[in-house]
Amino acid sequence: MTQDELKLAVAKAAIEYITPKLDKESIVGVGTGSTANFFIAELAGIKHLFAGAVASSDESAKRLQDLGIEVLELNDINEMVVYVDGADEFDPQLNLIKGGGAALTREKIVAAVAKEFICIVDDTKQVEVLGDYPLPVEVIPMARSYVSRELAKLNAQPVYRQGVVTDNGNVILDVEDLDISDAKALEVKINNIVGVVTNGLFAQRNADLLLMGCADGVQTLTAK
Ligand code: 5RP
Repeated sequence: MTQDELKLAVAKAAIEYITPKLDKESIVGVGTGSTANFFIAELAGIKHLFAGAVASSDESAKRLQDLGIEVLELNDINEMVVYVDGADEFDPQLNLIKGGGAALTREKIVAAVAKEFICIVDDTKQVEVLGDYPLPVEVIPMARSYVSRELAKLNAQPVYRQGVVTDNGNVILDVEDLDISDAKALEVKINNIVGVVTNGLFAQRNADLLLMGCADGVQTLTAK
């Protein structure tokens, strides 16, 4: 199977998983990235079953609208039944690295609101310890150099993602060689650096369930 076929398989599995949870009032949170795009395409097939979606990026919002799915503002809703999104890496506790598509802050906000966070990935994203994938950190532009110096104190190498401006008007530092043996603690530590908007560790609010596409089908994983 190609990677795209695996992504399509997990997108379909996510639709199957969420369908019984939906009613005419339900709001679905929708992530960002190539796997989320497969999910968005499949979601269009069941749009009659729920009220609308909240998107974690302008790009996903446009895709949803183009497919006739109502897109709502997060501030206008009280409750979200489920959030479905991809990840760049996940560990056995379902802690994640996200932000490869620079949408990490809105993703984290939408995930915080959702009752259930379903992560959809192919098996290339599975690791024992997070950190092979550089950790994206969203930073207020004027703080970029200061935050880089602070991150370097963690014996890590922050790399400025040139030419990328987030939907929130900020910049991204991709941090290489981080020791992520304690993901929950590191998430808080990096978020405490002044000028950091948020970082791409999803450990304080990890995934509740993960659907992983692999050669022999879709596996359903919960935190170990
Ligand atoms: C975007 C993300 C994506 O979920 C992550 O980058 C995975 O993307 P893809 O499904 O394209 O591999 O966090 O900010």
